[in-house]
Amino acid sequence: MNIATISDLRASAKRRLPSFVFDYLDGGAGTEAGMVRNTSAFDEIRFKPRMLVNIEKRDLSTTLFGHRWSLPFGTAPIGFCNLMCPGGEEAIARAAVEAGIPCTLSTAGTTSLEDYARFAPQNAWFQLYVSRFDEITNDIVDRTDRAGYEALVVTVDIPLAARRPRDLRNNFSVALKVSPKFVWELVSHPSWSFATVSAGIPKFETMERYMKQTGTKQVAGFVSSQVSGSFDWDALKRLRDRWKRRFIVKGLLAAEDAVHARDLGCDAVIISNHGGRQLDSLPAPIEVIAEIRAAVGPKFPLILDSGIRSGEHIAKALAAGADFCLVGRAMMYAISALGTRGAKLAIEILGDELSRTLAQIGYIDIASLKAAAPIFKAR
Ligand SMILES: Cc1cc2nc3c(=O)[nH]c(=O)nc-3n(C[C@H](O)[C@H](O)[C@H](O)COP(=O)(O)O)c2cc1C
Repeated sequence: MNIATISDLRASAKRRLPSFVFDYLDGGAGTEAGMVRNTSAFDEIRFKPRMLVNIEKRDLSTTLFGHRWSLPFGTAPIGFCNLMCPGGEEAIARAAVEAGIPCTLSTAGTTSLEDYARFAPQNAWFQLYVSRFDEITNDIVDRTDRAGYEALVVTVDIPLAARRPRDLRNNFSVALKVSPKFVWELVSHPSWSFATVSAGIPKFETMERYMKQTGTKQVAGFVSSQVSGSFDWDALKRLRDRWKRRFIVKGLLAAEDAVHARDLGCDAVIISNHGGRQLDSLPAPIEVIAEIRAAVGPKFPLILDSGIRSGEHIAKALAAGADFCLVGRAMMYAISALGTRGAKLAIEILGDELSRTLAQIGYIDIASLKAAAPIFKAR
């Protein structure tokens, strides 16, 4: 069967990955109603289409941080990325360069931040989880600086590790320990198992050196053991002052917090609920973006993620007040389903859907779509 949509990629990823890996990627917090709502809230929005507009020449490019990106979206940071597909992070970075979009490496990624910067010198952003140990945080920030990253994305919506029922049921943190169920999963998903065993079990390459330093042995528990629950606005300000280039805060949902971040000197905010992975009853970012836009004013860059599964969703996010979007699982389903070639396909699907959406509703570029905001909520 040909792949036509991101949801085809998800279905294919589900077949290809062992269930504990698919659940790690696909799952969310609590009942997962919040995660589902991230996408269904997009689907409740309708366009007001304008006809008889010459849409033959369309331009999807947009400027963010003085850089002209070919498309108004980039890829979100994903921890343990290469577990879904060996070489996945590199493939995403290279596809992002080819497509002219930004890509973000997670602190919990499986490529070292230095290697990732080499794969995507102009396009790479680095996402930071602030460690409980200042010396580790500072060292990572200094490495990110030396590697030449244009932007530091500081994730602030993990004050503590979340309860993700699917991972708890699968005992995901010790998933790499051999059990009869684990062996069965490997045997029944031979293509994933062969690729993963051949490439070697992925490691947290950026963090490896600190694991030794802190005496932590267990790979899967390491990042959550590092999370700092005491990270606050003062600490964010210190980090802002330490980092000289673009500074982005990821994981805000309240207008007051976005205003605070702007006033503190942050360059942009990512309105996100972490793809519904932290708490069930948070608003979907698309539900709050208009209110946040009104609070921060027209100029301050707002990026939106969580729930985006199509180009229509991206058009709605932009019309509702976002300047730019990030896609998380959409990209991961693609590389899980098709291997490294999936990264390019996911960008193509989303870009083509977005272009056709603009044409269908009578807009030829992102600026005119944003200015007209041709959307309304279905009753
Ligand atoms: C498997 C997985 C791992 C993630 N790891 C990180 C991470 O390490 N750092 C981070 O800031 N966000 C992480 N996120 C959240 C994403 O960056 C992004 O906010 C989210 O995936 C957006 O929602 P979507 O998946 O519906 O597009 C992760 C999400 C998933 C699905």
